[in-house]
Amino acid sequence: MPADIVLVTGGAGFIGSNFVLQWLSAETSAVINLDKLTYAGNPSNLTAATSDPRYRFLQGDICDREFIAELLITHRPRAIVHFAAESHVDRSIHGPDDFIRTNVSGTFSLLEEARAYWSGLTGDQRHRFRFLHVSTDEVYGSLGPTDPAFTETTGYAPNSPYSASKAASDHLVRAYFHTYGLPVVTTNCSNNYGPFQFPEKLIPLVILHAISGKAIPVYGDGQNVRDWLYVADHCDAIRMVLRQGRIGETYNIGGRNELKNLDVVNTICAALDEFRPNDPVVPHRGLIKFVTDRPGHDRRYAMDTRKIESELGWRPRETFETGIHKTVRWYLDNEAWAQGVTSGNYRQWMAKQYSL
Ligand code: NAD
Ligand code: TYD
Repeated sequence: MPADIVLVTGGAGFIGSNFVLQWLSAETSAVINLDKLTYAGNPSNLTAATSDPRYRFLQGDICDREFIAELLITHRPRAIVHFAAESHVDRSIHGPDDFIRTNVSGTFSLLEEARAYWSGLTGDQRHRFRFLHVSTDEVYGSLGPTDPAFTETTGYAPNSPYSASKAASDHLVRAYFHTYGLPVVTTNCSNNYGPFQFPEKLIPLVILHAISGKAIPVYGDGQNVRDWLYVADHCDAIRMVLRQGRIGETYNIGGRNELKNLDVVNTICAALDEFRPNDPVVPHRGLIKFVTDRPGHDRRYAMDTRKIESELGWRPRETFETGIHKTVRWYLDNEAWAQGVTSGNYRQWMAKQYSL
């Protein structure tokens, strides 16, 4: 393994695997991917990386402090990019325990071991070290229809066990900077979409249901608003923040693509009408079914991204139109991937959540 190494946690999940693949094609440093491989982690996402000598996968839990300590001492990374988390709001409503364990206790464990490791560094290694914490816009709570978008100074008001656990982790990261001087930086991003997203989340779920003629479940009135960002744009932003972000700062990341859920679903259905005119139900929007709303469902998220744009010069490359077309095409071209990840565990989840 080369000497210049970045440790990624949760790199077998949706955003983490996109990040690792982008990193290997755009950067020179090596990557160690530490992932527990929960239901959401798929090593097959990283098939393209396995032949790269700069890539190494280690299965492990961020809550396992001994394992983390040993890993840091052995591999001496120059940065930790922390994606590992339980990430699905609906699952956090059914069973919050894992969210507290991984998102809160796991982040705490990682911070403690990062602090111990960083304290032992000297000179340039100490100066260069970064802990980048990947978080979400959901920590800010819910907006009314005309409220201004969230900025980095908006007060935290999490409403789901998921967002509360991410908020707690953000606070710990902040405290480790203020108290111990650990060189941290936090990114809060809006909803991502793109290749390798686990089909429990809205966009892949809609695509896979639509092509197989299954009902497309839309919660409540379908008027909830999310700000969608193509995953590669998020990964670009994280790399920029890692390179140039100011330590102790937080950066909001978003796509300036505020859309109502029903409009997202209709856009996907229209794309599929074009790509798949012979599917069981066409037009695909005929499969839309309004179902009972998610408890405590946040009405609207929107990100003010002026800080990262003006300080670091980041801008998303994809519009929703270009990004969603790429995404739909990816799921159509990778049906085997979707079949591989929709295992017994997935089927149990669908039965529990949607009575399917
Ligand atoms: P994901 O659920 O697809 O992947 C999470 C990964 O973390 C999986 O590979 C899983 O195996 C791993 N993991 C879980 N618990 C672990 C543990 N205890 N130890 C080690 N690995 C563990 O999630 P995602 O959508 O890729 O999100 C990644 C990060 O980005 C999360 O921190 C999430 O909060 C944040 N985020 C996600 C979005 C989004 O739209 N998906 C938006 C903003 C921020
Ligand atoms: P999701 O992809 O779960 O992301 P998040 O809850 O983190 O924003 O959901 C996106 C939006 O889509 C959210 O408002 C909930 C809604 N939704 C549905 O209407 N039906 C579904 O089956 C799912 C999974 C989500």
